[in-house]
Amino acid sequence: MQNKVKGTYDILPSEIKKWHFLENKIREITKKYNYEEIRTPVFEYSPVFHRDGELSDMVTKETYNFLDKGNRELTLKPEGTAGVIRSYVENKLYATNDLYKVYYISNMYRYERPQKGRYREFRQFGLEAIGSKNALIDAEVIKLSSEFIESLGLKEVSVLINSIGDDESRKKYQKALVNYLIPYIDELSDDSKRRINTNPLRILDSKDKNDQKIIKDAPKPIDYLSKESRNYLEEVLNYLKIFNVNYELDNKLVRGLDYYSEVVFEVKANIKNFGAQNILGGGGRYENLVSELGGPKTSAIGIAFGMERLLLALEYEEIVFEDEDYLDSYIITFDKKFNNYAATILNQLRNNNYLVDLDYNNRSFKAQLRRALNKNSKTLIIIGEDEYNNNQVTLKNTKSEEQVTIPIKDLLNHLKEELK
Ligand code: HAM
Repeated sequence: MQNKVKGTYDILPSEIKKWHFLENKIREITKKYNYEEIRTPVFEYSPVFHRDGELSDMVTKETYNFLDKGNRELTLKPEGTAGVIRSYVENKLYATNDLYKVYYISNMYRYERPQKGRYREFRQFGLEAIGSKNALIDAEVIKLSSEFIESLGLKEVSVLINSIGDDESRKKYQKALVNYLIPYIDELSDDSKRRINTNPLRILDSKDKNDQKIIKDAPKPIDYLSKESRNYLEEVLNYLKIFNVNYELDNKLVRGLDYYSEVVFEVKANIKNFGAQNILGGGGRYENLVSELGGPKTSAIGIAFGMERLLLALEYEEIVFEDEDYLDSYIITFDKKFNNYAATILNQLRNNNYLVDLDYNNRSFKAQLRRALNKNSKTLIIIGEDEYNNNQVTLKNTKSEEQVTIPIKDLLNHLKEELK
């Protein structure tokens, strides 16, 4: 027997219902906010993700990289943004000079230590609004995210917002942070020691208890914002008020990827016992990615949600899904010799667009009945000796439990009545 790859899992038909629920909610909210779907390849040439400026662990240490038979370096996408921007640039979509609003639902791959809510293959719902810098768009993305969470029925979730400022603010802040951290360097965790040179902002995000103690009194990005960045944040918050969004300012919030500037945000589950992987979604504005991938300087913003984490949150909040699966009828036969008769009926009903199925293994009446009820069949078509000999069937309504025995020629009319 072969096992699944570590950090992956199967979505079995018995679980697909909740995925459909989630996907339907995604399609509803993106339609409402006028985002169109984009589908980009599952792998890209490695430099799409491994750009000079991108030093985050997620991209440097956690990607699946491989050579294809032509010795090309490829990477499985660890996130959706870079691929979407590669496509935006390659298709010269900036030439329209318009705001390009797209969303995606896609598998992503990260070589991380698997645990609850963290996988090596996982799914994201993400969106990007590319092409202009306007605080109204930031507010719209945050509003959409909060409305999406509400539409799922989730209650114990908060929206956290921070600003890490423009390039200039971030440079100033980074310097102040490093100056603050240097006296503590020997006490920091190994990861943070390394990050002091590569990516000091990420130290604010450290899960190490001792790091957290040190960081508590570290300078905050918000105190180093340029006047423009401060005003921009104020503008976003002002629109959020107009949109009636509940949010919390979190001055320690920085994001795992390096491409962000200005406003960043996360959607966090506060559900009891949810576990460490409680960030359901995160995003922010990014100013340099389009130019790094060969396009003109273009501002963009986006967010992505981890779909497994959203489903986990739904489970913890005990949200029930409507059962969408059903059959119009299930054919039950008492003997193998009625198979031809059953097949003719099956064919006739399917030709008339009814959802019908039957037992292919000629199991016991009880087993067939169990299967029919399991599949939410609205009616049963029962074929026994008498029905077979008289060109009849017995049609039973599984809800009312009423049944009638009728000539086969009347079946379509009767079924139509029963299903009304
Ligand atoms: P991210 O924060 O790296 O951002 O990932 C977004 C979400 O994906 C996380 O909040 C989490 O819910 C989920 N996620 C990440 N890694 C895993 C994993 N190993 N297993 C399960 N779920 C996971 C991005 O990916 C950015 N591209 C978001 C963005 C879009 N920024 C701008 N536009």
